[in-house]
Amino acid sequence: MCGIVGALSQRNVVPILLQGLQRLEYRGYDSAGLVVVDEKQLKRARSTGRVADLTQKSSDIKGQLGIAHTRWATHGVPSERNAHPHLSSDSIAVVHNGIIENYEELRAHLKSVGYVFTSDTDTEVIAHLVHSHYKKGGTLLSATQAALGELVGAYAIGVIAIDNPQQLICARKGSPLLLGVGNQENFIASDMSALLAVTKNVVYLEEGDVAEINLDNYRVFDVKGKPVVRDVHVSELSNDSVELGEYRHYMLKEIFEQPQALANTLESVCNSQSLIPGLFGAEAAATFEQINSVLILACGTSHNSGLVARNWLEEISGIPCAVEIASEYRYRTSVANPNTLIVTISQSGETADTLAALNHAKAIGHPHTLAICNVAESAIIRQSKLRFLTRAGPEIGVASTKAFTTQLAALFLLTLVLAKQRGRLNAQQEKEHLQELRHLPIAVQAVLKLEPEIKKLAEKFVNKQHALFLGRGLHYPIALEGALKLKEISYIHAEAYPAGELKHGPLALVDKEMPVIAVAPNDTLLEKLKSNLQEVRARGGELYVFADANTRIQSSEGVHVMQMPEHAGFLSPILHTIPLQLLAYYVALEKGTDVDKPRNLAKSVTVE
Ligand code: F6R
Repeated sequence: MCGIVGALSQRNVVPILLQGLQRLEYRGYDSAGLVVVDEKQLKRARSTGRVADLTQKSSDIKGQLGIAHTRWATHGVPSERNAHPHLSSDSIAVVHNGIIENYEELRAHLKSVGYVFTSDTDTEVIAHLVHSHYKKGGTLLSATQAALGELVGAYAIGVIAIDNPQQLICARKGSPLLLGVGNQENFIASDMSALLAVTKNVVYLEEGDVAEINLDNYRVFDVKGKPVVRDVHVSELSNDSVELGEYRHYMLKEIFEQPQALANTLESVCNSQSLIPGLFGAEAAATFEQINSVLILACGTSHNSGLVARNWLEEISGIPCAVEIASEYRYRTSVANPNTLIVTISQSGETADTLAALNHAKAIGHPHTLAICNVAESAIIRQSKLRFLTRAGPEIGVASTKAFTTQLAALFLLTLVLAKQRGRLNAQQEKEHLQELRHLPIAVQAVLKLEPEIKKLAEKFVNKQHALFLGRGLHYPIALEGALKLKEISYIHAEAYPAGELKHGPLALVDKEMPVIAVAPNDTLLEKLKSNLQEVRARGGELYVFADANTRIQSSEGVHVMQMPEHAGFLSPILHTIPLQLLAYYVALEKGTDVDKPRNLAKSVTVE
C-alpha cells in the first residue's frame, strides 16, 4: 500500500507531485507529504488530511527535485509525525512503500550510534541508514545500495539528498515502482496513473532493481548491482480513464463502466467463432492437457469470483476445483499436486498475500500457474506462466466492482476452454455460450436501469446496524460479495450465508431490525430458496429480494421485490452482482461515508 511519486525536472515539480498523489490516493490516504530540494534546503510539508489539504500546506514550496507519498499506516498511527517523507539529519529524505521486517534491530543500532528518531515508522530507519553510509563518502546511489543490503522486508523507495539537487535514487523489492521517462525530466511512481499528465513512457523496474535518475538520463542496476537495460513501454492508459467525468464517485463510474469493461474483456472471443486455449497464453494448450484439477488463490472480492468459478469448473468442465484465501494457503501445510492448475485472481496484480501464495504454490511443486489480472505489467502477471488480462480499465474506487465482473467473465471463458478440451462442450453448446457472452454487456446495461429503484430502496438501510445476505449455489458467492461491498463502504455490519444454512444458527439474529437481502435467480434451487425466505418472514425479518422474471415472488408486507430480467443461466451471477453494488453505493451515499476511500482501507494491498 502507500503511493509514491517523485520528479526531477527543470520546472517546479510540486504541482506534478500533488497531482500524482491525488491519483495514488487509492493506495492509502491516512496522511500525505512531500519534500523538495530548494536553495540548499529540504522543504517538507505533511498533512493528516487528504491531498487537498497538503496542497494548501505546500503553497509556498517550490523545487525542481522532489518526492511525495500518500500513506496507509502499518507502523505508527496516522499522524503528521509518522507521515512521509522521513528525513535524516535534515539532509536525506526518503519515501517508502512496504514493510521493513528488521526495523527494530536497525533502529536500536542506529540509536546507539546517535541517530534521533522522530517517528514510529519503520521507514525512518531507511533514511538514517542511507545517511550513515552517505556521510562516509561515496555517491547517493552507493549509499542507498549499501542501506538496502541491510534491510529485510519489502520496499519501494525514493531517496533524495540536500547536496545532490539533480539526482533521485529509487529501488523496489516486493512493492511496485516504475520510472516515467520524459524529455529532460524523469519521474518515479507506484503506478502509471500518477504520471499520465507528464509522460506515457514507462520503465517497469524488476524485483531488486535500483535506479539512479538524472535530468536527461537514468541508469538501472539489478539485484546484484549490475547495470541492466529495462525496456521503455508506452502506456496505454489514457488520462480520461482515470478522471471522474460526469460521475460523483469513481465507484459509480466504475459500476456503469461494466458493460464496456465486459465487452473489452471478451473482445477477442466475441469476435471469433470458437474458444481456444491460446486466450490464456501460448503454452496454455499444452498445459491444460496436463492438468487434472484447479486451485484458485485470491483475496477479498477476487476470492469471491473464484468461489463462483468453482461451481462452473466442476459442473461444466468436470474438473475438481478448490478455492483458498491466499493469506491462509501459504501458512498451512498442503499437499502439492503437480498436475493442478494454480489460478491466481487479482485486480491489481500486486496484492502481497496473493503474490506470496503464488510463489508458495510454485515452491511446493506446482509448475502450472495462470494469472487472471487487470494490470498488464503487474508482479502476478509477470510471475505466472499463463495469463489472462481482464480489460476493465483502471479501477480507482477502493470497492472493487468492474474488476469483479470481468474476472467472472474471464473465469467463465477458462471454464469453457477446459470443458471443450475435455470433450464436454459440443459445437452447439459452444455456439450458445459464445452467444450468451456476446449478449452479456447488453444484459448488464439492462440491469443498470434498476438504479432509480435501488436508490430509493437504499433509504431504508440508513439506520440499520446489520444486514444479512442470502444466496444459494452459484449465487452464494454473490451474496458474499454483496455483504462485502455493503460493509466496506457503508460500515453496516453485513454477513452472507448460503440460505439453507440459516436454520443452523443465523436465524437467531433475524428480527424486524435485520434486513435480509436475497439473491433469487430462477434456477434449480429457487423453490428451496423460497422456503428459506419463508423461514425469515415467519420470524418478522424484512426481505429485500432481487428476483429474476418468472420466479413468482411477489412484493407483499415485509417483502420488497426488485425485478431482475430473465434468468441468464450460468452467467446469472454477473447480472445479480450489479444491483448489490448499486445498493451498497447508495446506502453509503445516504450515510455520507467516503465512498471511494472508505476508512482504514486501501486499494492495493501490497503488504502482508
Ligand atoms: C473489496 C476489494 C478487496 C480486494 C482484495 C484483493 O472491494 O476490493 O477485497 O478484492 O484486496 O485485491 P486484488 O484483487 O487487487 O488482489
